[in-house]
Amino acid sequence: MSYNISIQKTETSNLDKLDFNNIPLGTTFTDHMFICDYDNGEWVNPRIIPMGMIPTHPAAMALHYGQAIFEGMKATVDSDGNPMLFRAEDNANRLNFSADRMGMPNIPTELFVDGLKQLVDLDRQWIPPIDGSALYLRPFMYADEPFIGMRAATHYKFIIMASPAGPFFSKRIKLWAEKKFIRAAQGGTGEAKAAGNYAAAIRPTELAKAKGYDQVLWLDAVEHKYIQEVGTMNIFFKIDDKFITPELDGCVLDGITRKSVIALLKDRGFEVTERKITIDEIKEASKNGILKEAFGTGTAVGIAYIQEIGLDGESIHVSHDSPVGIEINQRLNDIKTGKVEDKFDWMTKVAKQLVD
Ligand code: COI
Repeated sequence: MSYNISIQKTETSNLDKLDFNNIPLGTTFTDHMFICDYDNGEWVNPRIIPMGMIPTHPAAMALHYGQAIFEGMKATVDSDGNPMLFRAEDNANRLNFSADRMGMPNIPTELFVDGLKQLVDLDRQWIPPIDGSALYLRPFMYADEPFIGMRAATHYKFIIMASPAGPFFSKRIKLWAEKKFIRAAQGGTGEAKAAGNYAAAIRPTELAKAKGYDQVLWLDAVEHKYIQEVGTMNIFFKIDDKFITPELDGCVLDGITRKSVIALLKDRGFEVTERKITIDEIKEASKNGILKEAFGTGTAVGIAYIQEIGLDGESIHVSHDSPVGIEINQRLNDIKTGKVEDKFDWMTKVAKQLVD
């Protein structure tokens, strides 16, 4: 089924204010956004309108009870300037997985992908044509029904906005292995991309930063010994010549970059195991000189290298001699810009329909 998306183009584009070589992080938005309403059990009125404020009733249920979920994804251009989306259907599936957990309606994959394609087509000139840069896309859904009682809302909005993003050059980061606060417990919402998971991480992250660390390394809720995630990313370790990453045990987000990195590492001939990993095992590997590299993976950052982990007053040192992750990150970027073959069929081309 193809959706009839109405289009209202902006009269005043902000494109001429954008400097592709100096994009402020997360504060620049393209000229348009996609919106759709969930009403009476169905998604209605899909539309692209000029980017701007949305009137919100103060009793909108998302503001009180947190029915709010989101995705992060990227559009890039090939060397001829043709836009492409990375693993768009995987993001649609994950949004619906999150929606199920949070008692929210599913959005049809075709509507999700059509909305993305048409928005990216219309705002195609906002995609930075620079290696490592991209148009960051933020599809999200929230309960906008005004109601004071606690139950699943009956009215929702699904919105996609787009924000150009420069290359993410991260220094190697320092992690704080957190033993007081937790991110996720079995049966909770940790595997959903729910806004509340991020809210709960803000204070512990501030405290870690005050101690001189960049991000929190989340441990399990019961014994505080099994590694889950880092900050807003999944995590990988290389011990000797093998990669390991925490298994998807219900507390870990099924990251799209995570699964792409697993595929690329395997394709490159590395063994990658998804399993339970204790922080003590990582400490031991570091002591024995076999902790060869560690990195976080996420859509926004790609791959972020880890320098050390603070644990109970001690510091776990991570080597960085010939990191494989740099090569994998480059291959990801090359797939996203059509420089190398898309052998996993991850890219979706965006046809030119709405511009000119
Ligand atoms: C992403 O990497 O896309 C995320 O969703 C993390 C976000 C908090 C920036």
